[in-house]
Amino acid sequence: MDVASLLARRRMTRSFDGSPVDPAWLRGACETALLAPTAGHSAGVTLSVVGHERVDEYLAVATDPTWRARSSRYPGWSRAGALVLVSSRVSAYLERYAEPDKADAGLSERDAWPVPYWHGDAAMATMALLLLIEEAGLAAGLWGAFRNVEAVRHWAGLADDELFATVFVGRPDGHDRPSASLDRPVPTRAERVRRIG
Ligand SMILES: Cc1cc2nc3c(=O)[nH]c(=O)nc-3n(C[C@H](O)[C@H](O)[C@H](O)COP(=O)(O)O)c2cc1C
Repeated sequence: MDVASLLARRRMTRSFDGSPVDPAWLRGACETALLAPTAGHSAGVTLSVVGHERVDEYLAVATDPTWRARSSRYPGWSRAGALVLVSSRVSAYLERYAEPDKADAGLSERDAWPVPYWHGDAAMATMALLLLIEEAGLAAGLWGAFRNVEAVRHWAGLADDELFATVFVGRPDGHDRPSASLDRPVPTRAERVRRIG
């Protein structure tokens, strides 16, 4: 399937059927996803695979009992066949951009970055992984990093990394309800492509 078709077909899935995802396949897909661009060849992104048997453990750390009791989507997420935690090591970028060929950029201090390239790299690798998952006939859902982030980092042993997102991977069970976000009126894709001059 060509890239345009994969992009058109890919949609976030939030309810899985509980079957495991082959860990060897997922590890290989993660390695392939890391062919994505990386600023200054910093290679600061890490993809951490969590097997099917530890999805519940992750959710116990990443969420709280109130959310689990109230969320109608929690059971569907908990049936994911595997997870991938996407993180990046900020120091890899600070060190790379302090090297002689990059020093003129003035980016050797964290606060100097108008756009943190480590998040850009993490997003690029994430998108590549989403397309590989789609190509394999599997499905994925994504959580941004906003809840219990420190606890997840600690649990995953990501001492020096910033968490970017968690990718839930699996097979849809057909009970997905589209996100309410999709009902929002937003500019069309055509309106978001513009020409300057
Ligand atoms: C950075 C980022 C964070 C996201 N966080 C969440 C999340 O926490 N929970 C969720 O259900 N979806 C999350 N999403 C998925 C979006 O809601 C979804 O991509 C959007 O509604 C468009 O739907 P589509 O990807 O199926 O086209 C996130 C997506 C991105 C790019």
